[in-house]
Amino acid sequence: MKAISIQTFGSPDGLAVVDLPVPAPAAGQVLIATEAVGVGGVDTVIRSGALAAYGFKEGHIPGGEVAGTVTAVGEDVDVSWIGRRVWGFTGTGGGYVEQAVAPVEQILPLPGSLSAAAAVTLGSSGSVAHFGLRHARFAPGETVLVRGAAGGIGIMTVQLAARGGAAAVAVTTSSSERGERLRRLGATHVLDRSGDGGKEAPAGYDVIIDVVAGEDMPSFLDRLNPNGRMVAVGAVAGQPPADFGTRIMAAFRKSMSFAAFSAATVTPADLSAVRGKQFAAAGRGEIEAVVHELLPLDEAVLAHRKMDAGEVFGRIVLTP
Ligand SMILES: NC(=O)c1ccc[n+]([C@@H]2O[C@H](COP(=O)([O-])OP(=O)(O)OC[C@H]3O[C@@H](n4cnc5c(N)ncnc54)[C@H](OP(=O)(O)O)[C@@H]3O)[C@@H](O)[C@H]2O)c1
Repeated sequence: MKAISIQTFGSPDGLAVVDLPVPAPAAGQVLIATEAVGVGGVDTVIRSGALAAYGFKEGHIPGGEVAGTVTAVGEDVDVSWIGRRVWGFTGTGGGYVEQAVAPVEQILPLPGSLSAAAAVTLGSSGSVAHFGLRHARFAPGETVLVRGAAGGIGIMTVQLAARGGAAAVAVTTSSSERGERLRRLGATHVLDRSGDGGKEAPAGYDVIIDVVAGEDMPSFLDRLNPNGRMVAVGAVAGQPPADFGTRIMAAFRKSMSFAAFSAATVTPADLSAVRGKQFAAAGRGEIEAVVHELLPLDEAVLAHRKMDAGEVFGRIVLTP
């Protein structure tokens, strides 16, 4: 079968099309003939070599989110899965392939109304958005700022906050065109990357969901209301500066909270329950899966170039 491998860490040119044997699903796994494969931000970070210290090696097959039809099952897996269209999570790799293996507890049936591309756009991002807002104890009537709103997690957080009754949903983004698209998804205020949104923007926020982190992160603490909560769900701009903790303590009198959230702390059953509801809602048109572009699997180099250039609004989906 055709697969994409990271032959050399570094630029997207280090990705290559390779021919691999079709894997046999082990006990507890299913084999999925892929129709759609999501290109995640973490795939580009792994490809760059930045995570080599965490055990990622050249030869790694990137990708974690796939959708397609179950063609075989391993020992102890109900054979009635065979022939069903599913979304599946393969982990931190193994997705950029024509036939992917996934643990049975990490697959979910696709409603007939949902495309495979929509499923790999919503599957992971939607649950991070849901549980990120829950971690922040978001309640209707509160003001929310989504920092780094133009990616998969941000787009879903904007929609869920708006549907959840937020009094305002502000977003940071790098262009007015993206701002307009985010407004159509539920954003009420568009700020630049530094958080400046002019006189119209709320003076403070009850909840900040931060996908970005990086050097500018401490300045967003200043935008929290008293008792406000900032939750970091990503770090696309790298780690915050070393004095971040000092900046939190300097705002002591605001009684604010800072937390990180990772979907790794949520059980597969709870993730599946939320994904199932979101897939159904997307099938009914209540939430939108924003697919940036469909590209053939062997165009993975182009997909990664576009990701590196910051051109992507939503998700690129590879179609094997
Ligand atoms: N918490 C979890 O369980 C979980 C699960 C999966 C992934 N993640 C993490 O989530 C992140 C990826 O999320 P995503 O795919 O939604 O994000 P993304 O698309 O990679 O980035 C989101 C947006 O951030 C803005 N941005 C990029 N670089 C920036 C910079 N240097 N400064 C300010 N803004 C910048 C860009 O929008 P503009 O150009 O419009 O500003 C970009 O579209 C990764 O850090 C990944 O590790 C977390």
